[in-house]
Amino acid sequence: MLNVRVARRTREAVDIDTFELMDVDGKPLPPFSAGSHIDVHLPNGLTRQYSLCNDPTESHRYLIGVLRDAGSRGGSTAMHEQVKEGDVLRISTPKNHFPLVHEAKRSVLVAGGIGVTPILCMAERLAVAGADFEMHYCTRSRERTAFHDRIAGSAFAPRVRFHFDDGDAAQKLDIARLVATPQPGVHLYVCGPKGFMDAVLAAARAAGWPPAQIHYEFFNAELLPTGNEGAFEVKLASSGRVVAVGKDQTVVEALAAAGVEVPTSCGQGVCGTCLTRVLEGVPDHQDLYLTPEEQAANDQFTPCCSRSKTPRLVLDL
Ligand code: FES
Repeated sequence: MLNVRVARRTREAVDIDTFELMDVDGKPLPPFSAGSHIDVHLPNGLTRQYSLCNDPTESHRYLIGVLRDAGSRGGSTAMHEQVKEGDVLRISTPKNHFPLVHEAKRSVLVAGGIGVTPILCMAERLAVAGADFEMHYCTRSRERTAFHDRIAGSAFAPRVRFHFDDGDAAQKLDIARLVATPQPGVHLYVCGPKGFMDAVLAAARAAGWPPAQIHYEFFNAELLPTGNEGAFEVKLASSGRVVAVGKDQTVVEALAAAGVEVPTSCGQGVCGTCLTRVLEGVPDHQDLYLTPEEQAANDQFTPCCSRSKTPRLVLDL
């Protein structure tokens, strides 16, 4: 855990602010790589993950961008309404579940909305490394485009295309065309809202991109799909103990009430901290962490949010 001070808060676009975080004693912060995020412990008790969007060579600050989302469960609202310059926040050290493949011949970066935060960090890194890449940034309108001027004024501006939903048809992103021809050594990175990512990922898969060349991260787990919300049981393989999971409880909560702690971080199916092996039964995956292939194997699940399609799951606990 680190204590950081909010050194500056800046309006970047409609409903999007950045928060510049510095060590409370002015010491250098732990290093991070492009695609990293931090857990931020919010004043209202929630923990939320935000991607770092500054140049990874910087050690004096972490920069996060936060969209005020009316449909959120309180994370982005707390950041916007309760966190001001000078406040001290507790954060985790950076973790990276969305790293760049450094041996890539070329990288195609695709961002939707606030999903630009890790993508921008990747662009900074690739530009500094002199690597070959292109970046596409889709937003609803110019006013909702965070970091527009920073990108337009950067050395890598010629590699970036902006695509506005309210702009003319010619500038809109033709996803099918962008991903039409997968090539060895070319890697695709996608971050944005679920519908946007589903469209890009489906097009890439349909065009035959190998899974190893597709990389993605959902920026907002508050868009979790709804699934089976009924009650079920979990059985602990080690002790044979059976724990009932109520319809209003998560598996993690039910286990905690029974005295069994499962480590968690995001609590939203994003980080993978709670990943648990499933020995019997079929989980109802609600996470955004496992790939579709991993989910289909049904041999692991995220008990912080996922549920069960069968009356009982036997867990490797
Ligand atoms: S705690 Fe993050 S995926 Fe479950």
